[in-house]
Amino acid sequence: MVLKKNNINTSRNLFFNNKYLEIKGGEILAGKVKISGAKNSALVLMAASILSRGQINLFNVPRISDVLIMSKILTAMGMNIRSNANHLTISSEQTSLPSQESLFDLFNALRGSFFCIGPLLARFGKAKIPLPGGCLIGSRPIDEHINSLKKLGVIFQFKNNSLSAEVITPDKRLIGSSITFDCKSVGATETLIMAASLAKGTTILNNSAQEPEIIDLANMLNLMGARVKGAGSERITIEGVESLKGCDYTVMSDRIEAGTFLIAAAITRSSISLCNCEPNHLRTVLKKLELCGCKFEYTKNSLRIIPNQILNSVNVTTSPFPGFPTDLQAPFMTLMATVNGTSKIEETVFENRMHHVKELKRMGANITVKDNIATIVGVKKLRGRVVIGSDLRATAALALAGLSANGKTIVKGLEHLERGYEDFSEKLRTIGTRILKK
Ligand code: UD1
Repeated sequence: MVLKKNNINTSRNLFFNNKYLEIKGGEILAGKVKISGAKNSALVLMAASILSRGQINLFNVPRISDVLIMSKILTAMGMNIRSNANHLTISSEQTSLPSQESLFDLFNALRGSFFCIGPLLARFGKAKIPLPGGCLIGSRPIDEHINSLKKLGVIFQFKNNSLSAEVITPDKRLIGSSITFDCKSVGATETLIMAASLAKGTTILNNSAQEPEIIDLANMLNLMGARVKGAGSERITIEGVESLKGCDYTVMSDRIEAGTFLIAAAITRSSISLCNCEPNHLRTVLKKLELCGCKFEYTKNSLRIIPNQILNSVNVTTSPFPGFPTDLQAPFMTLMATVNGTSKIEETVFENRMHHVKELKRMGANITVKDNIATIVGVKKLRGRVVIGSDLRATAALALAGLSANGKTIVKGLEHLERGYEDFSEKLRTIGTRILKK
């Protein structure tokens, strides 16, 4: 498919739909699930393609609405994108940019679009972007991005909810610098790696986030000719180069999707296998699942989960990688709502990420929340209800609740789920869930 510039829907609720999932709970699952490419990696790799004048071939790209919006943004900025199933070809030979104001609705539909700021500044010396939107999971500031880019020679102006950024060096090229982030931010680390790749001189990033998606970005940039060292550690060094070329790259597998399907197996006390998944990215999650009574079998190409019929409560505190991922907090809470005993789940990454609790309680879960700590007393059975997902992972968590609940669960808010899970209901159906998308 070739995306056409005049085919862009600029409605703010770009992907709002009335679709919902209907799930009949209580089925035992069996079989194999193929994990898709990582949403959080694909989005940043797509943004990184702005840095190159050559052609980028991205493989294993998930077919999800966030990727579609990002494709539309890049297309509207003058890049050529062709997509064929999970393969994207992105190329850009342009030397200047169209006005980005006309793209504001698109930018607003996707927080990940903010990733474009680093590559735009590095390649074109300026950027105009609305302040980022995305999931309703807290205020999600961008001070780390802004303050660090300033150190590379960027000035910013904020006006009417948008920001204009410009490189102020005489040759419009960013200048390498030493930066220590105040907090571990995945997005800020990625923005700075991309910006610094084309800067003059060397940039050192201290207190960097260590998520696997950051390693994925560094690997692709290095194939493009960048010199990024230390990704995956707290100290990353980027020696700027003058230009970057095209490359072929396969997006890493989605550890959050893998974690979601492991929890689907645990919550239904079923044994399933995952393929195209990287267990090393899931170490903390696997450990918590083991503590609650799941066993794992590893083969070269697959990971099999074998849960005990009786599972026990486990406490979890979310934290940056290698800690327990905040993106699996809601799904894990759903599991804890159905096991023996009382658990505590503390959310430390985002301040407002417990929207699923209200809906889980409507399904019969016994959960109280105080100061971002949820106390969950496991119940024998959840009850099927009509529930509404408010963000991507909360919606997945409610679908998981439906798998183990008595009776029928309707999960609304599918537009959130479709932002980040490729063929979610189809994959669940293949392993035995009675699920319909309506
Ligand atoms: C990314 C992921 C998201 C995941 C999150 C944490 C993508 C597209 N999204 O989001 O799925 O939940 O990492 O693993 O990759 N912060 C600041 N100032 C900043 C930036 C961040 O204070 O400038 C704070 C945030 O408010 C938050 C924490 O840092 O409390 C972590 O946020 P960050 O790692 O930046 O998350 P994202 O990159 O937005």
